[in-house]
Amino acid sequence: MIQLWKQEAADWRLAMECTEGSAPLSLRAVGQDRALVMSLGRDATPETARRGIAKAVKTVRELGAQSLLLDITSMRALGADGLAAAAQGAELACYRQETWKQAEEKPFTLYLTGADGLDAAAVLTQTEAVTRGVCFARTLTNRPGNMLTPALLAQAMAQAAERVGVEVQILDEAETRALGMGAFHAVGDSAAHPPRLIVLRWRGGRPDAAPIALVGKGVCFDTGGYNLKTSGGLKTMRADMAGGAAVCGAVLALAENRVPVNVTAVVPAVENRISPDSMLPGDVVVSMSGKTIQINNTDAEGRLILADAITYAIQKEGASRVVDIATLTGACARTLGPTVGGLVSNSDELCAQLLDAARRAGEQYWRFPDFPEYKKMIESPAADLSNQSSDGCGAITAGLFLGAFAEDVPWVHMDIAGTAWTDRPRREYQTPGATGAGVTTLYQLCAALAAEG
Ligand code: BES
Ligand code: ZN
Ligand code: ZN
Repeated sequence: MIQLWKQEAADWRLAMECTEGSAPLSLRAVGQDRALVMSLGRDATPETARRGIAKAVKTVRELGAQSLLLDITSMRALGADGLAAAAQGAELACYRQETWKQAEEKPFTLYLTGADGLDAAAVLTQTEAVTRGVCFARTLTNRPGNMLTPALLAQAMAQAAERVGVEVQILDEAETRALGMGAFHAVGDSAAHPPRLIVLRWRGGRPDAAPIALVGKGVCFDTGGYNLKTSGGLKTMRADMAGGAAVCGAVLALAENRVPVNVTAVVPAVENRISPDSMLPGDVVVSMSGKTIQINNTDAEGRLILADAITYAIQKEGASRVVDIATLTGACARTLGPTVGGLVSNSDELCAQLLDAARRAGEQYWRFPDFPEYKKMIESPAADLSNQSSDGCGAITAGLFLGAFAEDVPWVHMDIAGTAWTDRPRREYQTPGATGAGVTTLYQLCAALAAEG
């Protein structure tokens, strides 16, 4: 929690400094008891502030502090963006995953001073809504698979959405079958827990404006199916709904801040398991678009459910742009590592807008190439498309598979397989487990598109 006024009784005091000399992100004690200075370096950016305050907050919490008075007087040059980033860094560093232990941790309060002239109250209210969205996504993603079936995921999202004025529609298996969502059902029918298609509509824009669709992969658990994963591969697969959690977190924040934009989140929620009804390698299914797909690997399930969700967003929700986000490929994680997400897109303009939003959010993405030979790798002798590349390039070919369903609607695909989860935090504001990747970027993108009108 962040409060805006001086609290002389805070356990520790911290000043942020943007000067030459000490190394960036170094923390040193000064003068009187329990006073610290965090040096951000002369070339500080809002991102440096996000990391710096996160590091400081973690440090004083480890020392047992329950409050910190933060003086941002000497980082005022970073403006409102600097203040927003610092506030987000502090709160994300305090994130604690849900536990089922009996002992509870004491709350932590950050008091802020030195923000004169920055309209700090408004900046903090807006930033806190976005940060709550990130924490909401982290919590759902961390939640054990037995406590987060597709129906329970739908229930959790619906509850949160209704509280902030987001319209909710949950389609059950009879409804999605009636829509002809054969690719979605190829995965959804593999488990005793039936699938759900979760649709969240925030209507902050003009009533006649077509919505931006945010489509998030909601695989509540990915065993791989008959192409079963290894023990190591299975370990974190409860987090395979991180993309779904991210689009929900972003929509919640847009609604809380009453951003004047129309956004529809679509989350196909399934488990990928082994059952008498599971798909088998070689199966051919008919997607909602009419395109046929040969399933060459049951572990490439994300693209199957997303294909139908993208078609649903375009045909049923009338989306004018589509952004999908998914823990889609191990190949992306291996190629770009744990701090960079991969992009595939059919629109230079939307892709540039997304990269700009990511910069403001303090996230990193890299666009993959889409040369024609990559499309050849997902051809099948028996169907319109194969769900597995015949020649490697796994991250690109998975993206292009989805692009076939976006057709000519401007579309960007975000692969967060490497960034959605961390056993070893690479950023000061992360904690072990889910990172909430994508939430702030999607929020910033939709806010920018709102400003565009
Ligand atoms: N959920 C996985 C991708 C993943 C891997 C996410 C590691 C996070 C960490 C996805 O469904 C998957 O299994 N993809 C396969 C596709 C392949 C069989 C074509 C992969 O990447 O190996
Ligand atoms: Zn898989
Ligand atoms: Zn998966």
